[in-house]
Parts: sequence; structure tokens; C-alpha cells
Amino acid sequence: MKHLLCLSQWTSEEIKETIKMGEKLKFENKNGIWHNHLLKGKILGLIFAKSSTRTRVSFETGMYQLGGYSLFLSTDDIQLGRGETLSDTAKTLSRYIDGVMIRTFKQSDVQAIADCGTIPVINGLTDSQHPCQVLADLQTIKEYKGKLKGIKLAYVGDGNNVANSLLIGAAKVGMDIAVATPKGYECEQYSVDTAFEAAKESSSEITLTDDPAAAVKDADVVYTDTWVSMGMESEKEKRVKIFMPYQVNSNLMKLAKPDAIFMHCLPAYRGYEVTDEVIDGPQSVVFDQAENRLHAQKAVLVKLLG
Ligand code: CP
Ligand code: NVA
Repeated sequence: MKHLLCLSQWTSEEIKETIKMGEKLKFENKNGIWHNHLLKGKILGLIFAKSSTRTRVSFETGMYQLGGYSLFLSTDDIQLGRGETLSDTAKTLSRYIDGVMIRTFKQSDVQAIADCGTIPVINGLTDSQHPCQVLADLQTIKEYKGKLKGIKLAYVGDGNNVANSLLIGAAKVGMDIAVATPKGYECEQYSVDTAFEAAKESSSEITLTDDPAAAVKDADVVYTDTWVSMGMESEKEKRVKIFMPYQVNSNLMKLAKPDAIFMHCLPAYRGYEVTDEVIDGPQSVVFDQAENRLHAQKAVLVKLLG
């Protein structure tokens, strides 16, 4: 049974094939070519223990476009939120539906659903990883830069779920990645180790620093994300003070290549991790990136549920 829990569990070939499938599905979608036979009659459950705009809407829309159906299952409403075990939930859902996406806190909970159920599981974000985001990001970078290998991505800000998955994804496909985070807010060790391991094969160059200027120098892609991820709201005041030197503004963007693109997984907090000038400026591709969540995830759905 194939799942998408962490990109570490996918080969670089699987990642590249999925991006290609995403490109094909996007082309068909843009040209009025229906592909609603691909998951005809399949049902995907969407468990959300955290808020979402893009993930929810792109999965629901994607399932419809593929001929399937989706069920939104907020943990506020299902028994999981009242203490039914992950194992019992996974076993029960496996009797009704063909796959499940889950957005929650612990990566181990997503793993538990996969281990206990008998249907494919997709990680729709945990505190540790956001693999669906990064597949869409890679598709977006390829769209703009024509290739992935040798492209330099600079991630500036919090060493969070998005940064962890970017490290692994970039290293797997042979992209160079520089991550600038304040001391104490680095990416998790598992993702760092996995990325360095993958880089041995792909010859991707990985740089970890606390200096945003050094990371962004000559980058093809500048990427940031919120300083206050879901579940960390109580740390906001402290974090804003620490992260202010990591803001992506016009001065920082000037250090990247002149044709660099700006990316953000969204939602963005303007005036904090990015200025209006950058996110609304000509280098920003954030809405193409958001759109590609739809196409890339449809490719994942076809691969896992098809
Ligand atoms: N980028 C992303 O996952 O957005 P949502 O939280 O809106 O799903
Ligand atoms: N790092 C952010 C991503 C939101 C899509 C969070 O976890 O809240």
C-alpha cells in the first residue's frame, strides 16, 4: 500500500513522475479535457484537526474533477476528537472509503492511521511535514524555471513543516537549497539528515545558515512561510521579535538573481515574514503556486487511489 506521509518515503523517480502527471492534469484542466474517469466512484475522507483553505478546497475540487467524491471530516465533529482511538478510526474509515487525507499535529498520528487502516493515507500537513505543498511547489518551480536540477532555492524564516519538506523534496530532485533560520528555530534533525542522505545521490547542494543574505545570494527562488505556525499562537510576540531580521522584503530580494521568483505556501502574514511590495510584486508567483496544489494533489490521488 502506497501512502504520502513524508517525501522521505518516496523515491526521486516517484516524485518526478508525480510532477509530470500534475503537469498533464493541469494541461487537460486548462484545455477543457475532462478526466473524470480516473477516480470514478472513489471516495476520499478529509480529516482536519487544523484550519485550511487551500488544502481543503483543492482536495475537494480535485476529487470532483477526477470523478470521485470527498467527505470533510473535522475533528470537532467526528468521534476522533472525543477520544476514539486513531486505530479504531482508521479501521472504521477503511470499511467505507477509498483513501484518507489527514491534517493534524503529530506526524506519528498520520503514521498510525496508515499502519492501522487498509487504505492509502495522505499527509495534509503535520507539525513536521507538508509533502503535498512541496510537490505543488516543485511543479511550480519547474513551470517557471524549466527544470529543477541545479536551481537554487533559498528558504528564509522558521524551520517549520514547510521548510522540512522543502529540504527533503529539493534534495531528492537535485535542487540546491539554502535555509536561513534563527538559532534555535532550525529544521528538525530527521529532515536535515534525510536531505543530506538524498543529496549524496542527487548532488544537490544544501546550506544551513542563520544568515538570510547569505542564503538568498544568487537564488532562483526565494521562499518564506509564517513565523507562527498553527498551534504556536501563544509564541507570537516572542517570535516576531526574533524573526524580524528574516523578513523577505525588497532589499533581501535584490540579493537573489534578477529573475528570481518569490514563493509562499500561504496563508501569508503581510508585514511580518513578507512585505506587500514583495508578495504583490512582479516576482511573486504565490497564486500559481496555490493553484498547483490542485494539479499536484490530483496526481497524488491518481497514483494512490487510481
Ligand atoms: N498552504 C496551505 O496548506 O494552505 P491551507 O492551510 O489554507 O490549506
Ligand atoms: N507552517 C504553516 C503552514 C500553513 C499552510 C503552519 O503549519 O501553520
